[in-house]
Amino acid sequence: MSIAQRRILLAVTGGIAAYKACELVRRLRDLDAHVRVVMTEGATHFVTATTFQALSGEPVRISLWDEHGEAAMGHIELAKWAERILIAPASADTIARLANGFANDLLSTVCLASAAPVYVAPAMNQQMWAHPAVQANMETLRRRGVIQLGPDSGDQACGDIGSGRMLEALELREAMVASFVDERLRDLKVVVTAGPTYEDIDPVRFIGNRSSGKMGFAVAEAAAYAGAEVTLIAGPVGLATPPRVARRIDVRSAAQMHDAVLEATAQADIYIGAAAVGDYRPATVAGQKLKKRDGKGLTLELSENPDILADLSQRSPKPFLLGFAAETHDVAVYAQDKLKRKGLDMIAANQVGGGLGFEAEDNALSLFWPGGEEALPRASKRTLAQQLIVKLAERYRAQRG
Ligand code: PMT
Repeated sequence: MSIAQRRILLAVTGGIAAYKACELVRRLRDLDAHVRVVMTEGATHFVTATTFQALSGEPVRISLWDEHGEAAMGHIELAKWAERILIAPASADTIARLANGFANDLLSTVCLASAAPVYVAPAMNQQMWAHPAVQANMETLRRRGVIQLGPDSGDQACGDIGSGRMLEALELREAMVASFVDERLRDLKVVVTAGPTYEDIDPVRFIGNRSSGKMGFAVAEAAAYAGAEVTLIAGPVGLATPPRVARRIDVRSAAQMHDAVLEATAQADIYIGAAAVGDYRPATVAGQKLKKRDGKGLTLELSENPDILADLSQRSPKPFLLGFAAETHDVAVYAQDKLKRKGLDMIAANQVGGGLGFEAEDNALSLFWPGGEEALPRASKRTLAQQLIVKLAERYRAQRG
């Protein structure tokens, strides 16, 4: 979906990354989005309002007490005008003020007065970003439905290296584009699995895997923002339920996930298997903790778990099936094979390793469907999830109308 004519309020706060916000305005305007800029007083120490005014073609607002701008309750008008509020860069101070519901400057007041989804692109020194106060404030915002974009990691303007760099202008624009997919899955029931499964060996040990659930949770969130009624079936993960997700079912083992999925998909239109489901489980679960057998080693007999996707593909009618594949090599070959073997409509393959895939914040996906493919280059899991949902909706409509 295009962002042409969509109304984006860009809030620029005090940080050196404010210079990237200039590029962002240009890139958004390239796609004919309407952009208005609000600056905090701190931001004006880095970039002038004249720069943003020239780039956006709109007056820039800085103060809540601007007599001209407030003649007609300008902050309320701005709050109502905005379809999206994008805060980029978002300083630690702004994140703290929003988390605490302040309303004593233009930006915080507009955010409180607006029903538009708020996107925050943090930008700060890596030590500041890692500080528990900043993380707690960000967590508060995420729980309220604020969408976090980045930060990236790498060289910082202050000379440090680490996490805290603002995403690049094109990545932020992509997130805005993806955010306008809201109608694509409207009225559809979508079931998403996420995270690992744990297969118990005894009361204290299990066989698990490194899946954090981040990819699957991001997909569930993106599907929900696209208007779907989402059921999220999660393995053991420590993640909060994303906003707008209708139902969450927590499971532990592959067998439990299998049963939960089969029940939840009875009426579903789409199934997305982002969970890393254990292929095997111990044939027997010891009732008591296994004792160390000095020098004797231990052999575990494993039984195969049911394959959720393969079972769903036998159903008639069956939901549209999107599988994931995590591979360490020959990604395309193995993914295409799984697409056929498991009877899928689409597969999203990720190469694990090199800072991508399991546990990582970022991923890169190669999508395959019968007769087509598309690469989604490295980005945050949230951004990728939004892009994936755009493609999924396209394939679903092409197949089922
Ligand atoms: O959770 P994160 O840390 O964010 O990491 C994300 C991820 C790497 C786990 C995710 O992007 C991903 O690739 N998930 C699928 C990983 C996987 O287990 O792939 P697989 O090749 O083993 O399985 C292929 C597909 O079959 C998957 O959709 C899986 O859910 C499904 N499957 C597997 C086994 C089984 N018994 N039943 C299944 O349905």
